[in-house]
Amino acid sequence: MKTIFSGIQPSGVITLGNYIGAIRQFIELQNDYDCYFCVVDQHAITVPQDRLKLRKNIRTLAALYIAAGLDPQKATLFIQSEVPAHSQAAWMLQCISYIGELERMTQFKDKSAGKEAVSAGLLTYPPLMAADILLYGTDLVPVGEDQKQHLELTRNLAERFNNRYNEIFTIPEVRIPKVGARIMSLQDPLKKMSKSDANQKAFITMLDEPKQIEKKIKSAVTDSDGIVQFDQKNKPGISNLLSIYSILGNKTVQELEEYYAGKGYGEFKTDLAEVVLNYIIPIQERFRQLVESQELDDILDKGAEKAALKANKMVKKMEKAMGLGRKRR
Ligand code: AQP
Repeated sequence: MKTIFSGIQPSGVITLGNYIGAIRQFIELQNDYDCYFCVVDQHAITVPQDRLKLRKNIRTLAALYIAAGLDPQKATLFIQSEVPAHSQAAWMLQCISYIGELERMTQFKDKSAGKEAVSAGLLTYPPLMAADILLYGTDLVPVGEDQKQHLELTRNLAERFNNRYNEIFTIPEVRIPKVGARIMSLQDPLKKMSKSDANQKAFITMLDEPKQIEKKIKSAVTDSDGIVQFDQKNKPGISNLLSIYSILGNKTVQELEEYYAGKGYGEFKTDLAEVVLNYIIPIQERFRQLVESQELDDILDKGAEKAALKANKMVKKMEKAMGLGRKRR
């Protein structure tokens, strides 16, 4: 059986973008692959985090994975910092990464732009991500469009390590959904929807109150011509809303365009809010039962144990290949 790894940062409550671009794919794939899904909390601290909020977001994210349909009997769910092999492997991969290639990463450029003090961790985020993936002999990494560049670097690092030391890493393939790989901000449809956006109106989180969700959709930026039509270049706002509607409402964009021909954005947005709520409310109900439960702790304990078993073996292989430690007799 082929292996899948993917992670999400607990840098806020996950958005509809994270759900559509990542979690929805995970749920689909868990039946056919050996899946490792991770709350990548060490990635979250590459930018400053409030300690109590981070703790809460970690648990929230783990509960949301399951509330959204991840089955712990099928997939392994765990928290990155609870499996120390990730940081051990990340250090070794940092030592074969070049500063120049890390500085070229778009996410590093975006998150460091205009900042006076940028953490070294923000620069060395990609080798940690490569470690996450390579530790499990991962064949396939399901992610949204924004992670494509980091995946390319992961492949380069794996090949570099294999050529320089020993052929121990599987070279992973990236899997990007055909639709919904890049859900855009509701306030600036040229920017992707992000859970850490300073403007709360720009994103819908999976835990927003129904009233908040309706309001955010109603105030989503569109254009002034009032025609419900998909045209990413000239009408990015309505095109983004059409994508969300099409994915969650299970209708093609063309069907939606035909149905809303001659109707205004108001009616379209009211219906879209209903579609989003129909999806989100059952997830929120399951989430509330889970988030403070012992069941969640048991799932995460078991997940960390299972992940460590596999990851520790790979760390040993890496150390052996690089010549670290003593030769075992
Ligand atoms: N807008 C998006 N549309 C589709 N997919 C998305 N993903 C993120 N944003 C969108 C996918 O969600 C997964 C988890 O991402 P992450 O939390 O590890 O980091 P990120 O990509 O940086 O996500 P955010 O929400 O933008 O977080 P912050 O604000 O903290 O940087 C990935 O598979 C990603 O592709």
